[in-house]
Amino acid sequence: MRVLVLGGTWFLGRAVVVEALRRGHDVTTFNRGKTGQDVPGAQVVRGDRSRHGDLAAAVAAGPFDVVVDPSGYVPVDVAAAAHALAARVGRYVFVSTVDAYEDWPHAPITERSPLHECPPDVAWGSLPYGHLKAGCERALAAAWPGELVVVRPGVLLGVREPKGRLPWWLRRMERGGRVLAPGEPERRLQPVDVRDAAAFVVDLAEGRADGPVNVVAPQGHTTMRRLLQACAAVVERNAELVWLPDDALVAAGVREWTELPMWRPAPGTWAVDATRARAAGLVCRPVTQTVADTWRWMKSGQQVAEHWRTAEHGIDPAKEGELLRSWLGEVRPGPGR
Ligand SMILES: NC(=O)c1ccc[n+]([C@@H]2O[C@H](COP(=O)([O-])OP(=O)(O)OC[C@H]3O[C@@H](n4cnc5c(N)ncnc54)[C@H](OP(=O)(O)O)[C@@H]3O)[C@@H](O)[C@H]2O)c1
Repeated sequence: MRVLVLGGTWFLGRAVVVEALRRGHDVTTFNRGKTGQDVPGAQVVRGDRSRHGDLAAAVAAGPFDVVVDPSGYVPVDVAAAAHALAARVGRYVFVSTVDAYEDWPHAPITERSPLHECPPDVAWGSLPYGHLKAGCERALAAAWPGELVVVRPGVLLGVREPKGRLPWWLRRMERGGRVLAPGEPERRLQPVDVRDAAAFVVDLAEGRADGPVNVVAPQGHTTMRRLLQACAAVVERNAELVWLPDDALVAAGVREWTELPMWRPAPGTWAVDATRARAAGLVCRPVTQTVADTWRWMKSGQQVAEHWRTAEHGIDPAKEGELLRSWLGEVRPGPGR
């Protein structure tokens, strides 16, 4: 099969390229040559998808059986890719996100849940990420004449994770000592290892199932406690988890999801239905394996181009220490009190 990947050098897109090559497909990537590394064995076409004329180079490298698009964030650019490639490609696999759902995270989500409002002709910067992804989906529905498969991942973890959620927890455990563990220990998480997500995307590219489909692990796959325990175990340091409840963290102004990565206090359910993905063949490896492989990769010293949001992740050690001491009743009254 001839596969075109728009992007293909960073995290999910790169894992898709690696998996497609492993299965013997003929893979071409289209990117600017700025982020990450080209995968040996893939043909490379350089261009900037936001400069729509550059897509001619990708078109000229065709025809392709399928285009996989993990780097589409702007409806007008996704529509331009669809128009440019329509005559030379059979199937379009678009990587969206669960953020595209209007009700996420406040209500349980299935693939039939409504998407955010966003017209298909919107340009960059005017709306939040999830709205723009919904607009990209609409742009494709309007512009793509062939088979269209939309995947909506929840959270992806694993080797080369550019936002640094799991790497932050691993580094924190490596520092050892008392570690602020956030919220409800048994809160369910639905992360997918990037390699499993990539294998599933390639399955869909091969035409084995239709979209739209949520790419999330089944509920109960892991919990905050199991994730953090796996991190603590793999770094082989003496890290003691001290659980602080949601309300104490919210009252202290701790930013959810970023300051303590993967922590969401529970105003809603954060539950995404994984039934379709499972039926379509998504297999999720144990989170202990994702954690161990990510740690091994971090220790190997390989670098990854950071995401522009990486710096948002992680709590300041002084703030963490203060919160722990206060929770454990170790804060001494100051003079005059
Ligand atoms: N990570 C998660 O937890 C998560 C969760 C839900 C959904 N998702 C979705 O999963 C996808 C992640 O894909 P990804 O990890 O491969 O990263 P990505 O951010 O989608 O794409 C990065 C790739 O696209 C290329 N690229 C960026 N801008 C370009 C441009 N203007 N023209 C041509 N190429 C361009 C980059 O290379 P150059 O910079 O060299 O051009 C790089 O190869 C996204 O669609 C994201 O919304 C991720």
